[in-house]
Amino acid sequence: MAPKSISFARGAPSLDIVDVDGLREAAERAFITDPGGVTAYGTSIGYPPLREWIAEQHGVDPGRVIVTNGSMQADAFLFDALIEPGDSVVVERPTYDRTLLSLRTLGADVRMVELEPDGIDVAALERVLVAGASPKLAHIIPNFQNPAGYTLSADKRERLLALARAHGFTIFEDDPYWSLRFEGEHLPSILSMDGETVVYASSFSKTVCPGIRVGYLVGPEDLIARIAKIATSTYISPGMVAQAIVHQFCVSGALERSIETVKAALSERARTLSEALRRELPDARFIDPQGGYFLWVELPRGTNVAALFDAAASRGVLFVKGSDFVLEGADDCLRLAYSGVTPDEIEEGIKRLAEAHSEVAAVGAPAA
Ligand SMILES: Cc1ncc(COP(=O)(O)O)c(C=O)c1O
Repeated sequence: MAPKSISFARGAPSLDIVDVDGLREAAERAFITDPGGVTAYGTSIGYPPLREWIAEQHGVDPGRVIVTNGSMQADAFLFDALIEPGDSVVVERPTYDRTLLSLRTLGADVRMVELEPDGIDVAALERVLVAGASPKLAHIIPNFQNPAGYTLSADKRERLLALARAHGFTIFEDDPYWSLRFEGEHLPSILSMDGETVVYASSFSKTVCPGIRVGYLVGPEDLIARIAKIATSTYISPGMVAQAIVHQFCVSGALERSIETVKAALSERARTLSEALRRELPDARFIDPQGGYFLWVELPRGTNVAALFDAAASRGVLFVKGSDFVLEGADDCLRLAYSGVTPDEIEEGIKRLAEAHSEVAAVGAPAA
């Protein structure tokens, strides 16, 4: 019998940490309190009470917020509004594979700048800029980055902003993991440091559930108004039912409780994963996460992660190859998502991954 599948591949929460009852109750309240608003087409800027709630959280005017069907849709609208084929865009290396794909599909000239454990290498970015690069946008995932799990330091937030102001580019702060810090101190968003240079995106996928498909953008009012027009011609309006449910979930205090549940599980899962990796794969290099969903593993130079992927898959263990998150290289790296696996599954999954690693190492070793 094939072994039970254990997936470290998807950046999604497991069902046991989704507040299904809370969502059902929020849905009931949404239909009872606002049947007209929930069932109508609504407006392209999103369900107005949720838009206002989000604006209040960020201390901005609601005119600076648009609520979308997931933050991927927010990203797509932003790129549609700002990026023309050939435009230069800076991204972190490695970065979220879907953003990379969207930008490349749009014909952007994507420039990767190395990501360090305290965030993008700002000195390297400065060298790129001084050498003549003139990006329109820098895409930055500041907290518990996907795929690396790293967080941009306070000092680098200031330096990045100074570079953006001096060289006239927009920082796209893509921030779905901010509230999922289970260790250490929260850092201020770059948006809160400069509302003109920064466009901010976030999502309820990681704190409530991804199936609800609610995300949002905060940006300068004129840009948000342009994006609202694109949204109207794309889908008239986003799903009002989902957004009204999220609104009820937020105002009732269920969101805060859900975040606590998710954080407690992530903390335990991250610790279990780090310990299992140290025990089973002592050559693996990684940084213990302080929040978020992901852990980035560097295996010894020359390790064939593509072969490891196949050997692990034959044992029912899935992960994403590091090479999916870069334009080239990262062939000895992998991303492990610990959000969707229980501690027991993590223990078992890493044991099987270590077996797969031994098999690949034996095949790859030069003949004696
Ligand atoms: C950095 C980043 N941005 C955006 C998204 C997409 O989120 P959503 O489910 O809101 O579309 C993800 C999901 O993994 C992500 O990691």
